[in-house]
Amino acid sequence: MCGIVGFNGKNKAVDILLDGLSKLEYRGYDSVGIAIKEKDIEIYKAKGKIVNLKEKIKDKELNGTCGIGHTRWATHGEPSEKNAHPHISNDGNVTLVHNGIIENYQELIEKLHKHGYTFYSDTDTEVLANLIDYYYKKYKMGPIDAINRTMVRVRGSYAIVVMFKEYPDELWVAKKDSPMIIGESKDGMYAASDVPAILKYTNTVYYINDMEAACLKKNKVVFYDLNGDVIKKESKKIDWDISSAEKEGYEHFMIKEIHEQPGVIEKTIHSFINDNKIVFNNIDRDELKKIDEVYIVACGSAYHVGVCAGYIIEDLSRVSVKVDIASEFRYRNPIFRKNEFVIIISQSGETADSLAALREAKKMGAKTLAVVNVVGSSIAREADYVLYTLAGPEIAVATTKAFSTQLIVMYLFAIELSRAKKQIKATEYKELIEEIKLLPDKTKYILDNEVKNIQKIGDKLSTFQDAFYIGRRLDYAIALEGSLKLKEVSYIHSEAYAAGELKHGTISLIEENTPVIGIISQEDIYEKTISNLVEVKSRGGYILTISPKKIDISKVSNYEIHIPETYKYFYPSLIVIPLQLLSYYISVSRGVDVDKPRNLAKSVTVE
Ligand code: AGP
Repeated sequence: MCGIVGFNGKNKAVDILLDGLSKLEYRGYDSVGIAIKEKDIEIYKAKGKIVNLKEKIKDKELNGTCGIGHTRWATHGEPSEKNAHPHISNDGNVTLVHNGIIENYQELIEKLHKHGYTFYSDTDTEVLANLIDYYYKKYKMGPIDAINRTMVRVRGSYAIVVMFKEYPDELWVAKKDSPMIIGESKDGMYAASDVPAILKYTNTVYYINDMEAACLKKNKVVFYDLNGDVIKKESKKIDWDISSAEKEGYEHFMIKEIHEQPGVIEKTIHSFINDNKIVFNNIDRDELKKIDEVYIVACGSAYHVGVCAGYIIEDLSRVSVKVDIASEFRYRNPIFRKNEFVIIISQSGETADSLAALREAKKMGAKTLAVVNVVGSSIAREADYVLYTLAGPEIAVATTKAFSTQLIVMYLFAIELSRAKKQIKATEYKELIEEIKLLPDKTKYILDNEVKNIQKIGDKLSTFQDAFYIGRRLDYAIALEGSLKLKEVSYIHSEAYAAGELKHGTISLIEENTPVIGIISQEDIYEKTISNLVEVKSRGGYILTISPKKIDISKVSNYEIHIPETYKYFYPSLIVIPLQLLSYYISVSRGVDVDKPRNLAKSVTVE
């Protein structure tokens, strides 16, 4: 999605803006631009990558210390210089950048046409610039009044940073439903869509809420509510270090983040376990005891965590679980009776469909829990409860460490719920916690011993155009993630299938050498999956298996990848490591831009 950076302080803004935008490239973009206050506000834009913009400004004298920058992910209007941000009002009084979608922009264009405004671009953002200018001139009450009136009039989502010609030493920020963070350092004030853009300069931040505005002066920030009254806010410290947002010697962010998993899994486990007991600071067992039904709602990989968790929660706590894709849930008119508990899983905490599903659930009176990675994100702030994964900044578009830490949180939730429902005794509770605490080492064991094995098979599979992932129950759930990983970073078409379902049609696609990845970890049903693999092999399929060594599959497997043993519920955490590595190495051997695959964005903050 779009990336925004703003700076107002002592140093040259252009360097800070370009550096910050480069740290947001992972969000995906197709054009880029900056505006700097020199004698007048100077705007430079380019289609494509940041390097194209740098080429444009290389001979410019840009010493201004106040400016804004933007990487655009096209939603209204094709990727072009004309549609790139920043956008300006007709007479240049207002200059702004925007992340989000203005849903009623057509209606607003008509309104502004009546007042003599014209438009040069195909974007909804340009409407914002003219609308702010319209209110600024009509009511003559200055920036905060013009911005507040605009926020009341506009429908949709936005995070904006605005420059006013008549207020040259100020940047104005406002947001609704799109992410924005404010940073403060001795050198000045920052605004950004995400932490990595400003972490190099400061880890002191403020969170701005929906329908609030902020004025960034050279050395302080003033927050306002919708009435234009000043709001006091405390700054927070972000404990992500800058190296987390850099590659640290790895070739790609994805492989770096795959290898970070033992560490962040351990951090996440220990953030919730105290003296061998699970401690959810803001959810107690009395609250959990009341739960009659759990909904888990998410998108993409986070949804796959939900599918894994659904099996575990039901098996452990005997509480019924419905797992739904957020974009379906929000329009499905779900049946809520009483004591529903809705869990929204989201790495970014800004996914539009997941945020909308959260709001839908709250509207229907459900208690809501957010499992998110980004502190202070919209989903985190709007849910009744929040459990943070401690994966740190995840830069690669394809999620890995955030996925693994989400699994951990959901295991702990399932165990705690089961205890609250008196479905497990204290002894099993303790055993489960002991086993979870071994997962970091077991994950590390796979990374230390299976990488070469997986890299080898990855080269072989990289020439295929199709692949199937099959498993049963939890093995099927994690197969979903394996298949998505392969698709999103290698562009190979793949499908995850419940092993028992294959013969109901899809097995007709199995030809000589079609790769089928068999996931086999669940002792009570693994023979069933093996017989499905035999069916596939008899039709010429090439069988790659992921399983603990104790399960003998040598008769059917063409290529075995082994994982350590663990408690049946926790195998997804170990199986996902080879699946991630396999996708990564296949992607690299196919020469794909593995950290920024085509058409994808790290956080889908629009519908
Ligand atoms: C995962 O590799 C993908 N990048 C994508 O499916 C992602 O999981 C999905 O968009 C949800 O994002 P979120 O966790 O930030 O809500």
